Amino acid sequence: MKNRKFHFCVILFLSMIPVVASGQKQNTRSHQNFDANWKFSLGNAADAKRDFDYGIGNIFSKSGETAGTCIATDFKDSTWANVRLPHDWVVALPFQYVKNDDIDSHGYKPVGALFPQNSIGWYRKTFTVNKADSGKRYEIQFDGIYRDSKVWLNGYYIGGHSSGYNSFAFDITDFIKFGKSNVMVVRADATQSEGWFYEGAGIYRHAWLNSYNNVHFKTAGGLFAHAEVADGKAQVKIEADIENRGINAAAATLYSYITDRDGKIIAKGKQIPFTEAIRENKLLVDEMTIINPRLWSLDDAYLYRAVSLIKANGQTIDSINVKFGVRTFKFDSEKGFFLNGKPLKVQGVSCHQDHAGVGSALPDELQYYRIRLLKEMGVNAYRTTHNPPTPELLDACDSLGMLVMDETRLLTSGQEYEQQYRDLILRDRNHASIFMWSIGNEEYVTQRTDIGKRIAQNQILLQQQLDPTRTSTYAANMGNVYRGVNEVIPVRGFNYNLLGIDAYHKEHPLQPIIGTEVASTVTTRSIYVKDTVRAYVPDYDVTFPSWASTAETWWKIADARPWFMGGFAWTGFDYRGEPTPYRWPNINSHFGIMDMCGFPKNVYYYYQSWWTDKDILHIAPHWNWKGKEGKPIDVWVNTNADDVELYLNGKSLGKKEMPRNSHLVWTVNYEPGKLVAVAHKKGKVITAKVETTGAPYSIVLSPSKKILTANGEDAVVINASVVDKNGREVPDALNMLHFDIKGDAQIIGVGNGDPSSHEADKCLPGQWQRSLFGGKAQLIVLSGMQAGSFTVVASGAGIKSNQLPIIQK
Ligand code: GAL
Repeated sequence: MKNRKFHFCVILFLSMIPVVASGQKQNTRSHQNFDANWKFSLGNAADAKRDFDYGIGNIFSKSGETAGTCIATDFKDSTWANVRLPHDWVVALPFQYVKNDDIDSHGYKPVGALFPQNSIGWYRKTFTVNKADSGKRYEIQFDGIYRDSKVWLNGYYIGGHSSGYNSFAFDITDFIKFGKSNVMVVRADATQSEGWFYEGAGIYRHAWLNSYNNVHFKTAGGLFAHAEVADGKAQVKIEADIENRGINAAAATLYSYITDRDGKIIAKGKQIPFTEAIRENKLLVDEMTIINPRLWSLDDAYLYRAVSLIKANGQTIDSINVKFGVRTFKFDSEKGFFLNGKPLKVQGVSCHQDHAGVGSALPDELQYYRIRLLKEMGVNAYRTTHNPPTPELLDACDSLGMLVMDETRLLTSGQEYEQQYRDLILRDRNHASIFMWSIGNEEYVTQRTDIGKRIAQNQILLQQQLDPTRTSTYAANMGNVYRGVNEVIPVRGFNYNLLGIDAYHKEHPLQPIIGTEVASTVTTRSIYVKDTVRAYVPDYDVTFPSWASTAETWWKIADARPWFMGGFAWTGFDYRGEPTPYRWPNINSHFGIMDMCGFPKNVYYYYQSWWTDKDILHIAPHWNWKGKEGKPIDVWVNTNADDVELYLNGKSLGKKEMPRNSHLVWTVNYEPGKLVAVAHKKGKVITAKVETTGAPYSIVLSPSKKILTANGEDAVVINASVVDKNGREVPDALNMLHFDIKGDAQIIGVGNGDPSSHEADKCLPGQWQRSLFGGKAQLIVLSGMQAGSFTVVASGAGIKSNQLPIIQK
C-alpha cells in the first residue's frame, strides 16, 4: 500500500514545472562577504537636517520614496568616511564624564539619548550584481548591528531589526538592478541601549550577500545535524528546512551525506523526493550512522560535515554544508556534568564581547586569540553574557575545544523576544561547542513571579522544540528561592549566593545545579596598592563587591561538591563600562581575570594552578619597589606544587606546604635583587623568580602570528613591552610608544589594559601611540591586500626602537 502511494507521487512530480527555468545558470548558493567599501557618517537623532532629512522626508508615504534624503541612490556620499566592517563608531569617541548611570555603565562614551549627535550612524554601500546571475534569490545578512537598524536597497525600504545582538537576513531579490549599480543604505540608532556594559554601535559584525536558487535551504535553520551515540555508533539526524520562493510549484530530490574533516564521505543518506507548492516550506529528515565516531571533546575538537543537496532535473540546484560534532552531554543532579560519559567540572568564564583597541568590532583573529588565551588558563566553558555572540566566536570554540553556554538577551516571551530566542537557536544549534542555552540573566523584576515562570516555560518549550539535544538554564541571582523561573528551569543557575547551595540541593535533589555566574573578583593588573584617585584595586585575590567573592572562595565550594557542576567566573577579560568598585576616572571594569588586552592578572595563575595539570609557579608582585626599601610587601605564590621555599637574594624566607585550591603568602621586607621560589611537585623541582630590573632600554614586539593572509581582513595582535639592558622585562614601565606601519597593512586599535586610561584606542593615520601600563601595551593590525610583507615600527623617547616584519600572502 505504502509503495503504491509513493509511485503515485513520483508521477505527480514529473508533471510539475521544473524548478530551474531553461537557460538559467545552475550555480548553487553563494555566501559572499559584504564587509568592504562602505561609506559612513554620523546622523543626528534630534536634528532632522543633520540626519540627512530622514525624519522630514516623508519617506514612508510612498514605496521607494527617498525625497532628498541620504537614502536616495544619487546622494553624494564622497565626503563620508570609508569604512570596512566590522565597524564600531563608539570606540573612536572621546571619553566624557557625565553624572548618569547609563553613561557610566557604558564606559563614559558620549552615546545614547543624552548625545543625539553621536547616536545615529548611516552606512552606504554601492555594489553590482551580474545580469547573468538574475533569476536567483538574494538576501542581505547582518550578523549584528547595534542597534534598531533599518535597511534600504535602491531607495526601497527592506526592513528593520531592533536587536543589537541577533543575526538577521532580508530577502532583497525584488529590488536589485542587475548589471547596474545598486545602493544599500543602513541606519543604526543607538539612542536606546540594551545592556549595562559597553555595547558600541554600528555594523559591528560581518555582513554577507547570500544568493541561492528559488528552491533552497532556509538561512535560519536550513540544515540541522545532530547525533545520538550508543554502542560505538552515532545515529545522525539531518533535518533540512527547504523553502520554495519561485513562481512555480517544484519537484526535487534531497540527498545528504556526511564527510570526515578531510572531506571523505563516511555515510550516505537516501534520495528523498519532494514537492513544494509555491511559497511552501518543508521539513525533511534523513538519518545515517557513523561507525566508531570520533567524539568532539575539549582536547580533540573533531568536527564532521553534513552536506545536503537539492537536485532537480539531474542538477544540483542548492547545496549546504554544516560542521557538527558527535558528543554526549549528561546533567546529573547528584554527579554533576558529563561530557562523553566522563565527569567534567565546568571551569567557565562569562565574557562580554569587546576588546582593547577595537571596541565591539573584532576581527575574527581576535576571537580565536581570546579563546586560545582562555584555554591556556584552563578554562573549558564560555558563557556569552548577556547576548547572542558573533558566529565566529562559536566557530573558534568549536574548533579549539571550548564548551559554550549561549545566552539570549532578555527573559521574555513577547513576540519580538521569542523570535530573538528562536533565531539564536536556529542559527547556533549546529555548533558542537554549545552545551546549554541560557534563557536570561538576573531579571529581578520578573524572575520570582508567575509571569516569570510562564515566560520561562514558553522559552524552554521553544528550545526543546527547536533543539531537543540540549537543555536550558537561567542565571538567577535569587539565592535559595524556589519560585517563578526556578520552579521550571531544567538546570538551576546560581549567580553568586553560593553559601546556601547545600540547603538548596537538599531541598531540590533532582534539579542539577550550575554556577551561572560566580566570583566578580576585582583586580588591576600590576597595581598592588589600593588607589582611590586613579581608581585601582590591588592585583591580589582580595577585593570584591558585596554580592561577590574571591576566586578562591567560589572555587573551593565548587571543587568540593560533585553535584555542583562548576561555574562561570565573572569575567574572563575586563570589558569597557560597569566600572566597579570605583567610577570615573575608571572607564572599564576590573572583573577580568585578564585585562582588556588579554594580559593576565595574578588571579589568572590561581585558576591556572587548579584548572590545568601544567606545572604552575608564579610570584607576585614584581620586584621593582624603589623607595620601599625595608618596608613589608605581601608576596603571593600561586602554584599547584606540593611545597614552596622562597628566597630573597639567596636567603631562605621559609618553606610552606601548599594546601589544595589555595595560595601562599610571605610578608617580605623589600630589598632590591632577586626573589626566587623553589617548589617540589611529586619529586620534581620547579623554580620561578622575579627580579629588580634596570631602566627601560629597548622595545620588544611579540606578534600572535607571523604570517597573515593578504585579504584585508586577517589580523595580528602585537604585544609591546620594554626590557632593560640585560633583556629583563620592566614590569612597571609607563613609556609612551609610537607605532607605524611600513607597507600594506593598517593599525586598527591600541590598548594597554589600564582601566582608567583615557588615551585614544583609535588614532589618526600616522599618529598611533599608546603608553605602557604595567610594562605592556597592545596594537591590533589588519592585513592589506598585497602579498609580500610589511613592517611594524615601534619607537619611544630615550629607548631603542624595534621593527617587526610580518609576511602577508
Ligand atoms: C552580575 C551581572 C553581570 C555583572 C556582574 C558584576 O550581577 O549579571 O552582568 O553586572 O554582576 O559583578
